[in-house]
Amino acid sequence: MPRKLAAGNWKMNGLAASLDALHTLADRHVDASVDVLICPPATLISACMNLPISVGGQDCHANASGAHTGDISAEMLADAGAKAVLTGHSERRADHGETDAQVAAKSLAAYRAGLRAIICIGETLGQRDAGTTLDIIDGQLAGSVPDTATATNTVIAYEPVWAIGTGKVPTLDQIAEVHAHIRMRLETRFADGSDFTLLYGGSVKGSNAAEIFAVPHVNGALVGGASLKADDFSPIIAALENA
Ligand code: PGA
Repeated sequence: MPRKLAAGNWKMNGLAASLDALHTLADRHVDASVDVLICPPATLISACMNLPISVGGQDCHANASGAHTGDISAEMLADAGAKAVLTGHSERRADHGETDAQVAAKSLAAYRAGLRAIICIGETLGQRDAGTTLDIIDGQLAGSVPDTATATNTVIAYEPVWAIGTGKVPTLDQIAEVHAHIRMRLETRFADGSDFTLLYGGSVKGSNAAEIFAVPHVNGALVGGASLKADDFSPIIAALENA
């Protein structure tokens, strides 16, 4: 059975003062029956170490060290206390031109450092309107997910680009279609494909979490805006516990 995961992506938000929200969240969900992960900016990872909550990075370089000014390696994230790292988030693919091959290399770096890779995939609105969503998903799965991926070292997050930060959410049928397709591809390619945790991401809120978590093969969420405040993220965690 896939493990359930509620993951928060703080993106480029969060100062030391924001740790209060994490303390509140950790206190509330210390006994959660699902996995809870927060990916704060890298500057805050080590400050989260005393919290009974897992933390992750938002990106990593493929190399372990070297002359790459401004980059952070998976080993550095692990050293700071991270347990996971997002790879291939659409904002990285769009803002930094990251290719599937680079996302795969970063995911391999995560494995090398002992981190879980949360590999993000998803179509743009133009691709959905053109009817190519499942082709895009196939290409991203083939190109971004390394052959050494397992249900233990990898989570797949399906995030339609047009649903991220927009308040627009696909229909439940659209989510179901893509998640079933991803599951089928993973089962074909990996011996433990039925155990991979599959997340939905894109405008998940307390008000829509329960219906999204009821969709087959949705094992949790990757949450941006609604993960910044404990009062917004808590209902999502609770909905996943009850799913
Ligand atoms: P959102 O972001 O929840 O703010 O739409 C999701 C994400 O980018 O992971």
